[in-house]
Amino acid sequence: MTPTRHLLEIDDLSPGELVRILDLCETPTAPDSAVSGELAGRSVGLYFEKPSLRTRHSSEAAVTRLGGHAVTFTNAEVGIGTREPAADIAQVLSGFHAALGARVFDHQILEDMAAASSIPIVNLLSDLGHPCQALADLRTMRSELGDLAGRTVCWVGDYNNVARSLSIGAAMCGMQVRIASPVGYGPTGVDVDRLRAAGHDTAPFVTTHAAEAAEGADAVHTDVWASMGQEEESEARRRAFEGFQVDDRVMAAAASTAIFMHCLPAHRGEEVSASVADGPQSRMFAQAHNRMHAMIGLFRWLVEIEAIQ
Ligand code: CP
Ligand code: NVA
Repeated sequence: MTPTRHLLEIDDLSPGELVRILDLCETPTAPDSAVSGELAGRSVGLYFEKPSLRTRHSSEAAVTRLGGHAVTFTNAEVGIGTREPAADIAQVLSGFHAALGARVFDHQILEDMAAASSIPIVNLLSDLGHPCQALADLRTMRSELGDLAGRTVCWVGDYNNVARSLSIGAAMCGMQVRIASPVGYGPTGVDVDRLRAAGHDTAPFVTTHAAEAAEGADAVHTDVWASMGQEEESEARRRAFEGFQVDDRVMAAAASTAIFMHCLPAHRGEEVSASVADGPQSRMFAQAHNRMHAMIGLFRWLVEIEAIQ
């Protein structure tokens, strides 16, 4: 029997599969009032341990546009690890749904679900990665920049879940990756090796100076300094990330045509200045809207490869 396909991190895909999903995102979607039928009669479970605006709404909207029905639930309802183990929950839901997306604090929960599940498990953000965000980020850059191979992406700030998935995905698409983080918040040696492997032996450029990382970049990305679950570190992080705001000075170091991107939510005056977030180079709302198109591409691909039957 073919093993079930999951998307726990973007490099669970081959580069060819990643491009195929991006192509399926770009298949013209049905008019807003209509649906296409890839998920007709099917349901998708969407589990959230943390707040979400974009991921929940874009996923539910994508399932609806494909003719299916999303069942969104939280840990208060199911008690993962207290009421019952993640593996049992995944096995039970495998009998009901076509796929299960999950946003978790601990990536191990996703691993436990994937090991037990006969339906695709999709990471909707964990402490380690956010591959669905990366799909939307790559789709946005492809729409804006054209072919991504040879283009340069810059990350300024915490090398966290969003940064990791984006950087790996960008390297898989042949982009040069440039990263600026404070000491202690950048990519580890393991991360750098993973990026090198994803980028066909091209190493990322890593620095502790934001403007240096932005030099010549076609797209400059950032994210909050304190992620969900790190609220108690907010003050310490505010001090550590001083000088890592994407502002006009940082954008001036990038290519003159560079775009600014942010997964959102954004904290203007912290990781990004209001002038950049709301300025002419910002694409952060187009990027947010692409979350839905990316989920449509992902579900279409899962149907195409018969991971959803
Ligand atoms: N970018 C993103 O994942 O947003 P939400 O946390 O609102 O889902
Ligand atoms: N790094 C952020 C991303 C939110 C979409 C977090 O984990 O809170």
